[in-house]
Amino acid sequence: MLLGVNIDHVATLRNARGGIDPDIITAARICKECDVASITTHLREDRRHIKDADVEAIRMLPRTRLNLEMAMTDEMQEIALKLRPHAVCIVPEKRQELTTEGGLDVEGQLDRAIKFVKPLLKKNIEVSFFIDPDVHQISAVSKTGAPFIELHTGRYSEAFGSGEEEKAFQDLKGAAIFAQNFGLKVNAGHGLNYHNVKRMHEIPHLVELNIGHSIIARAIFVGLEQAVKEMKALCEG
Ligand code: PXP
Repeated sequence: MLLGVNIDHVATLRNARGGIDPDIITAARICKECDVASITTHLREDRRHIKDADVEAIRMLPRTRLNLEMAMTDEMQEIALKLRPHAVCIVPEKRQELTTEGGLDVEGQLDRAIKFVKPLLKKNIEVSFFIDPDVHQISAVSKTGAPFIELHTGRYSEAFGSGEEEKAFQDLKGAAIFAQNFGLKVNAGHGLNYHNVKRMHEIPHLVELNIGHSIIARAIFVGLEQAVKEMKALCEG
């Protein structure tokens, strides 16, 4: 499995003091030097961590694959069409949430989703929808033309080590296989850490894991390079 590193929390720390440290581009470069598959950033409507200038600068880095997480809004579509990141992951967004709290309801806004992805696909941007492991959401995504889903692993991550883990894990695994039968490629992420990530190898053909919080948290103690290398080794199995 490939690893995409979400570096939003580097910007969270930087913004705490309003200056330039820690520098987000240095973080992206270190991840890139560890040979990760993507640098992921979420440009939120409220710009609480990543700013427009950050994504523009990361996009300009040579040989760096930018995966832009964004809400399904006209503003974000315009930014993505201008910036042309290698990939976008369309996520739900609520102003009050601490992080992305659930998958996007694609089924409930299918016409809008189809219209939204069309110009992005035309520009050869790889589109994924961040969804819960739910067959209705998967079949909705299969109608949009998007080649990827990213499965929300939050419920599994929270349940890890408890009596709820097996059910949450089997839901993920079943959803991945169901999506692959529709011809969709499957990424996964949210809440994955150095322990619970290991079971992702039991899910066939996962392409990429997007992981942020646990890597940046570990980087405080061992440095970013070491934290990324450790996670990459776990992803590669
Ligand atoms: N994937 C998506 C779509 C996300 O919104 C996030 C959180 O920004 C992640 C993956 C990474 O989650 P975490 O920071 O918990 O590893």
